[in-house]
Amino acid sequence: MCGIVGYVGGREVVALLIEGLRRLEYRGYDSAGVVVRGPEGLIASKAEGKLDRLVDKLEREPLTGSFGLGHTRWATHGAPNERNAHPVLDARRRVAVIHNGIIENFLQLKTELIAAGWEFETDTDTEVVANLISSLYDGDDLRGAVDAARKRFEGMYAFAVMATRREEIVATRQGPPLVVGLGEAENFLASDPAALLTYTRDVIFLDNAELALLTPRGVEIWDAQGHPVERAAQRLNWDPIQVEKGGYKHFMLKEIHEQPQALQDTFGGRVDFELARVEFDDIGFEGSLGESEVRRVHLLACGTSLHAALVGKFLIEELARIPVEVDYGSEYRYRDPIVEPATLAVGVSQSGETADTLSAMGAARERGASLLAICNVANSQATRISDGVILTHAGPEIGVASTKAFTTQLVALFLLAVRLRQARGMETAAEELAALAHLPQAIDETLALEPKIDQLARRFFRAEDFLYLGRGINYPIALEGALKLKEISYIHAEGYTAGEMKHGPIALIDEDLPVVMVASGDRVYDKVISNMQEVKARDGIVIAVTDHDAEELAGVADEVIQVPRIHRLLQPIVNVVPLQLLAYFTGVRRGADVDQPRNLAKSVTVE
Ligand code: G6P
Repeated sequence: MCGIVGYVGGREVVALLIEGLRRLEYRGYDSAGVVVRGPEGLIASKAEGKLDRLVDKLEREPLTGSFGLGHTRWATHGAPNERNAHPVLDARRRVAVIHNGIIENFLQLKTELIAAGWEFETDTDTEVVANLISSLYDGDDLRGAVDAARKRFEGMYAFAVMATRREEIVATRQGPPLVVGLGEAENFLASDPAALLTYTRDVIFLDNAELALLTPRGVEIWDAQGHPVERAAQRLNWDPIQVEKGGYKHFMLKEIHEQPQALQDTFGGRVDFELARVEFDDIGFEGSLGESEVRRVHLLACGTSLHAALVGKFLIEELARIPVEVDYGSEYRYRDPIVEPATLAVGVSQSGETADTLSAMGAARERGASLLAICNVANSQATRISDGVILTHAGPEIGVASTKAFTTQLVALFLLAVRLRQARGMETAAEELAALAHLPQAIDETLALEPKIDQLARRFFRAEDFLYLGRGINYPIALEGALKLKEISYIHAEGYTAGEMKHGPIALIDEDLPVVMVASGDRVYDKVISNMQEVKARDGIVIAVTDHDAEELAGVADEVIQVPRIHRLLQPIVNVVPLQLLAYFTGVRRGADVDQPRNLAKSVTVE
């Protein structure tokens, strides 16, 4: 979704805004722009396309001024061109706005404003924000104008506004995140702390409906009723280095390689290996459902996180014997779900800000469920609306295609499953927990397969379609492998459960179709081998990912990726790594922008 950055203070503002936008570009990248206060008023510079286009433009036509706003866009209303890029100025050039989200009643407001004589130049809903604020602005009290205007807006949004009179930025949110960064005689605003880390780690996350006023001297915050909010800053423990590529060509490859450490961080300190127990206090469902009372689990998620949830169903059902339903965030609330008493609804989200997942969590809450968030971003909206939180501790994930966030979600779901098992007084999951300790090592060994997978990508990168098949707990891994490939290489790929192949996808198989089959040594291994034979019998190309001896598959598979074997319930975490690498190298060979694939955004804060 769109990235927002704002600055008040003494530094060279344009360079600072651009650097902040670089860190946020993963949120959206179809146009970018900045605005500063120049000698004669507000001056903006915008460019269609990636941030570098804006940087080139600013080199040709430099912009100087004090305090300012920057924006990187993922288009909702209006084509992704320069005219619709943010910042958006009002018709009288008195205020500039950057915005993330959607003003749902913008048409109605636009009609009113046009009737009152306001002109519109763009197709954006943001221009309504700018013109409405300007119409309410007396030239002095910008905060008052923003406060009055926002009461008219419906939808989910975060926006920041500046005018020329005072060195100040006014910002508010309803849904999408905003974080204020505190400095010495300078202050910062961003939609994600990643943009601020170079300058400060002292931050305040704005709550919904809060309004903030930033000046070089300080930051004031008010709640929806206009009462001042006193909130101490918190210190982020993210390392600025984590948001650098650190020698890797792409964030995606770096993040794939960070998985052994990230997984260790997810379970580190949370498992007593001697007692074979999962122990951590940050889960707490205070005041709601006790863990031992949970009778049903609903897992709610989108995209890659949905695939983690599908694996989570196997983990929770098998380890805790509690029935689990998995739903797309975008579907759940529209199907009038049945939420029985003692239901725990779990939102699984890397960002904690995906609008569909948040809405689904809200719908579960309305129907009486207790809420848990499995999330990578502390203080994100998903964590705030939940009774309990399991942070995945993957560290910042910048590549748009999710990798380490996915595998750490799987570990978090595994920990939850064991917790629920413990709470039910079942036998300890000793074998499974002992295996967990070996997981980082197993992932390390899998990463050593990188040269082989690069070779595979070289062989198959020209393919037009791919089929991914898996069964049981590895079926969602087939879905994830297919999703990764299509996201970053734009090759059409389908994930299917291997058992369903004969009911449709088998018609696709010919000598040009690579079929990636996840064949793990679990109870359906033999069945998957039969499916492989069926593919071979139709001249398909089989690429097998297996924890069995490669020799065993020599006769049936064209290519075998042999990964380390671990406990059956943890094997999906190992199996997905070669699929991430295959997608990565295929994308690179096809010349795709793997960190910022077309049309996607890292987190989607609109419905
Ligand atoms: C977007 C991203 C996906 C991600 C999904 C859910 O579509 O491109 O990579 O899986 O959102 O995001 P979340 O932050 O809720 O896990």
